[in-house]
Amino acid sequence: MKYGHFDDERREYVITNPQTPWPWINYLGNEDFFGLVSNSAGGYAFYKDAKFRRLNRYRYNNVPMDNGGRYFYIKDEDTIWSPGWKPCKTELDKYECRHGMSYTQIAGAKNGIEAETLFFIPLKTWAEIHKVRLSNTTSEVKKIKLFSFMEWCLWNAEDDQNNLQRNLSTGEVEVKGSTIYHKTEYKERRNHYAFYNVNAPIDGYDTDRESFLGLYNEFSAPQAVLDGKPTNSEAHGWSPIASHYIEVELQPGESKDYIFTLGYIENPEEEKWESKNVINKKPAEAIMERFNTVEKVEAALADLRSYWDNLLGKFMLDSNDDKLNRMVNIWNQYQCMVTFNMSRSASFFEVGIGRGMGFRDSNQDLIGFVHQVPERARERIIDIASTQFPDGGCYHQYQPLTKRGNDAIGGGFNDDPMWLILGVVSYIKESGDFSILDEMVPFDNDMSLAKSLYDHLTISFNHVVNNLGPNGLPLIGRADWNDCLNLNCFSTNPNESFQTTENNTEGSKAESVMIAGLFVVYGQEYVKLSRRIGNDAEADRAQAEVDKMVAAVKARGWDGEWFLRAYDFYGNKVGSDENEEGKIFIESQGWCTMAGIGKEEGMCEKSLNSVKERLDSDYGIVLNNPAFTKYVIEYGEISTYPAGYKENAGIFCHNNPWIMIGETEIGRGEEAWEYYKKICPAYLEDISELHKTEPYVYAQMIAGKDAYKPGEAKNSWLTGTASWNFYAVTQYILGIQPDYDGLKIEPCIPADWKGFTVKRQFRGAEYTIKVINEAGVNKGIASLTVDGKEIDGNVVPIFESGTYEIVVTMG
Ligand code: GLC
Ligand code: GLC
Repeated sequence: MKYGHFDDERREYVITNPQTPWPWINYLGNEDFFGLVSNSAGGYAFYKDAKFRRLNRYRYNNVPMDNGGRYFYIKDEDTIWSPGWKPCKTELDKYECRHGMSYTQIAGAKNGIEAETLFFIPLKTWAEIHKVRLSNTTSEVKKIKLFSFMEWCLWNAEDDQNNLQRNLSTGEVEVKGSTIYHKTEYKERRNHYAFYNVNAPIDGYDTDRESFLGLYNEFSAPQAVLDGKPTNSEAHGWSPIASHYIEVELQPGESKDYIFTLGYIENPEEEKWESKNVINKKPAEAIMERFNTVEKVEAALADLRSYWDNLLGKFMLDSNDDKLNRMVNIWNQYQCMVTFNMSRSASFFEVGIGRGMGFRDSNQDLIGFVHQVPERARERIIDIASTQFPDGGCYHQYQPLTKRGNDAIGGGFNDDPMWLILGVVSYIKESGDFSILDEMVPFDNDMSLAKSLYDHLTISFNHVVNNLGPNGLPLIGRADWNDCLNLNCFSTNPNESFQTTENNTEGSKAESVMIAGLFVVYGQEYVKLSRRIGNDAEADRAQAEVDKMVAAVKARGWDGEWFLRAYDFYGNKVGSDENEEGKIFIESQGWCTMAGIGKEEGMCEKSLNSVKERLDSDYGIVLNNPAFTKYVIEYGEISTYPAGYKENAGIFCHNNPWIMIGETEIGRGEEAWEYYKKICPAYLEDISELHKTEPYVYAQMIAGKDAYKPGEAKNSWLTGTASWNFYAVTQYILGIQPDYDGLKIEPCIPADWKGFTVKRQFRGAEYTIKVINEAGVNKGIASLTVDGKEIDGNVVPIFESGTYEIVVTMG
C-alpha cells in the first residue's frame, strides 16, 4: 500500500494520506540553522545543536504520536481544523504534503477554505519561514479565525525535560506588535533569544501555555481556539508559548497570505539591551524585514531551489530505471547532505540530545557528500581530526556547538582512526586539494599539540599497528564498527550502558577481523597517498604492515567457507562454524572482500557465496546468522536484542553496500544490483505499510528474517546507509570513481542493462559519460573514448574546465 507518490519533476515526495505508518519527515536548513518537519507539521527548529540550542518543544515517544510543532488552527464557525490534519485531526476535504529539497508544503482544505502552508529556511538565515495562504473557494464571504501555536523549549532540550523545579520558574517573554520574543535566561548567561512573528497586525495573542490550551486540554482542542478568542496572556515561568490570533475575512475567491518567521538571534554582550530588561530587537527586525512580503519569500525559495539544482547537478544519472534515477539524482544525495549535517543527532528516532557528531559516522558521511560541497567536507575533516588523541585513539563523538570531543557515548573503539583515512582520501580524490595534508591540526583540541593532518593519518595507521593481538589481528578495543559486539564488557548490570561501561582490555585477546579488512583497504589507500606525495619510505613501511595483515587474515581469520568475525576476550573464535549461534557475520565478509584478501585462493568468492546462502533474505542481508537467542556475556549488547532486530541479525542497511562492493570486486553485477534494490526505499514504496518509514530515504535497520515482522524498518534518515549506498551505486555499480588522476570508470552492472549515461562535474569540468553494454557483460571495458579519441586504460583525465563526451564500451 502507498500513502503518496514521487514527483520527480519537482523533486518531491507527495503524501496524500496524513495517517502514514510513522511520521514521514523532512529537514529544513542547510547550514547552522535547521528544522525537522513531519507530514503533519510536527517537529522543531534548532541552531547548530539540537541539544543546547533548541527553539521549540517536541515530545518524543508521546501518545498520540508526533506532538509539538508549528501548528495552525482555523476556526470556521464551529469547526476547528488544521491544514496538516494534526493536531486537530478533523477530517479534511483535501490533504497534501509535499516534502521537497529543504522545504515542505502542507495543504489542507475544509468547508470551502483552503490553507496552504510552506515551511523552509532561507539560505544563510537563522530563521524558519512559515508562509500561510488562506483561500475562500466558496461564493460567500467567509469570516474565520487563525491561531498560530508553538511552544518554546528552554534552550537545553535535555534540561528542559528534567529540571522542572527550576524551569517552571524561569520562562520569560516579551511581546511587541506582532512579534513574540522568547528571552528565558537572556539576562544572565545567554546572549541569544528567539522570536515568532507574523507580517500582519494581530488581534490578540497568548504566550502562556495553560492560558491558551487549558491545563487538561489536548493540542487538538486548545481552550482559546474553542472559545474563539485568545487571552493575551503573558508568561511568567511555567511554559511559555507563542500563539498569534488573526481574524480573517475572505471575499468569495479571495486569498490572503501571512508570513510567519521563527528566528534565532545572538547579540554581542554590549548590544544585548535596548533599555533595562528590554531586549535589543534590531537584528530580529532586520530578519523580519527581509521576508515580510510574498515576493521576498518567493525569491528566497527560488534561491534555495537553485542552490539544490546546483548541488544535484554534480552527479546526474540517466538510466532506464526511474526508481534508480530518483534515488541517485535526488533522494539519496539529499539524505547524504542531511546525514552530513546532523550526524546521528536529531531525527524522529534520535532525540537530539545524546548523540552529537560521531567520529566514525561523520567520516563515513563525508563520502556521500564530498562531491556536493568539498569545502564543507574539508572543514569537517579538520573538526573531526582535532578531537583525536595523540596516540591515534579517538573521542567517539563531539558536540557541534563546541566542537569538543566527549565520551558520553563511550570511547576506545579501535576502528575509529581508520575512518579518518577514508574521509581524507575521499576529499582529496574529489577536490585534488593535497594542501589539506599540511594543515596543522590539534590533538584533543589542544593547539599546542598540533601536527599536520598527514601526521594524523600516520598516527591513525599506527594505532592499528601498535594494537595487535595474539593472532596478529587488530585488537578490537571497546568494539569496532559494530558498537554492540562488546567483547571486553561482561556487563551484568542493567543500569549501565554497554557503550560507556568498563572496557576490560587488560589481558584481553579480543581481536577484530573486520578491522583487519578495514586496515587493508585504508592502509592501502594510505600507502598510495604516501607515494603520491613522494614519501616512498613511509609507503614501503606501511605496505609491509598491510602485507602482514593480509597474511594474518588468511592464516588466522579464515574459517573455511567465510571470514571469521573476531576472537573474544579469551581467544575463542567468533563467527565460526564452530559456534552454535552467530556462526557468520556480515562485516568481515564485506571488508575482507572489499580488500580482496585471498581473492586468488577463492576466499572472496566463497565468502560472498556464504553470505548469499546464510545471510541474504527477502528484505536484505542480515548482520549475522543464526541470530542470538540468549545473552552471551562475553559478546555483550549484540545478544541483548531480540532475534532479527538491530545488530542481532537485523538487516543493518549500512553494511549491505559493503557486500555490494565486494560483489563488484569479483565482477558479479547481478548480485550487487539485487542487493542494492532490496534495501533501496524507492523500490519498497508499494509495501509502505510494512516498511513503515519514508519511501524516499534509507532506514538504518530493517527487521531481519528471524524477527517477528521481517521487513519492518526503523531509524530512518540518520544512518551511514545513505552515504554507503550512494558510494556503492555510483562508484562501484555505475562505476564512476573520482581518483587522484581523473575519473576512473569501472561499471559492474547486470548483463541485461544496455547502458546508461552519467553527467558528472569533476574538478571544474563537466563529463558526459555514456556507458554502452551491447555486449551484455557484467564488467570489463573494451574501449573508452574522450571526445571521439580513444584513450588507454580507464581513467578519464582531469581537464579543469570545459565539457567532454566520454563513451565507454563494455565488453
Ligand atoms: C549506529 C552507529 C554507528 C555504528 C552502527 C553499528 O548506526 O551510529 O556508529 O557503527 O550503529 O553498531
Ligand atoms: C546502540 C545501538 C547502536 C549504536 C550504539 C551507540 O548500541 O544498537 O546502533 O551505534 O547504541 O549509540
